[in-house]
Amino acid sequence: MKQAKTYVLTKELTPLMFNEIAEEYDRLDRKLSFGLDLTWRKKLTQYIKNTNKNFEIVTDIASGTGDMLSELKKLNAKKYVAIDPSVNMLKIAKAKVPDADFIIAKAEQIPLPESFTDLITVAFGIRNFSDINRAFDEFYRILKPGGKLAIMEFSVPKNIIPALGFKFYVKYVIPILGYIHTGNYQAYKYLAESIFDFSKRYNITSMLSEHKFRDVKVRNFIFGGVKIYCCSKKE
Ligand SMILES: C[S@@+](CC[C@H](N)C(=O)[O-])C[C@H]1O[C@@H](n2cnc3c(N)ncnc32)[C@H](O)[C@@H]1O
Repeated sequence: MKQAKTYVLTKELTPLMFNEIAEEYDRLDRKLSFGLDLTWRKKLTQYIKNTNKNFEIVTDIASGTGDMLSELKKLNAKKYVAIDPSVNMLKIAKAKVPDADFIIAKAEQIPLPESFTDLITVAFGIRNFSDINRAFDEFYRILKPGGKLAIMEFSVPKNIIPALGFKFYVKYVIPILGYIHTGNYQAYKYLAESIFDFSKRYNITSMLSEHKFRDVKVRNFIFGGVKIYCCSKKE
């Protein structure tokens, strides 16, 4: 019999929640997205490749079980750094990309020096941050001048018909499938609700501009259900 979880989830508790679902995360991610999550991470990598820049140091934030990190290896950077506050998620990432450096930390307080990295990526992580503004300050600080930031996140589509389908799937289907596979209804309910909350509260494009990032560009997938935001730090 699966144990019901009784804690109330807040952004501060998400690393704890990810620790609990780490073992099942990849398998369920594939199922819930019908395998599309792999395609989206590939698209993000291709988008970065198309900038024709050389990336010496790549830093993947909210790296989780390392699926984005594995994909980023295609950029042939000299060094890869993965950051995440969930120890159990990073353990799985380490098995996939053993030669990367792993740091247990939050995006809001990154223990890396100024102008450290050429590229920062965040795939499906930003909506879990407790303070996105602080994280953007940190991203700007650790990026080299001319460095790139690429963020991928879910969003509610603008068009009413895809929006209805998206909302139904995320609100009702994901928590139930999450419960069936992991026994953790709350975790998957939180994951679903955080998409709506994030979509409603934040305009990432203008936030990035307010944080001095330049050339902010957005690309939509599945009618805007998934968005890629790309921008850079001034040379
Ligand atoms: C949905 S997973 C995404 C993992 C991975 N990037 C991927 O593409 O599968 C979100 C990750 O964000 C991490 N996270 C939660 N709060 C965070 C924070 N404040 N700073 C950095 N990462 C955080 C979680 O531990 C979790 O591993």
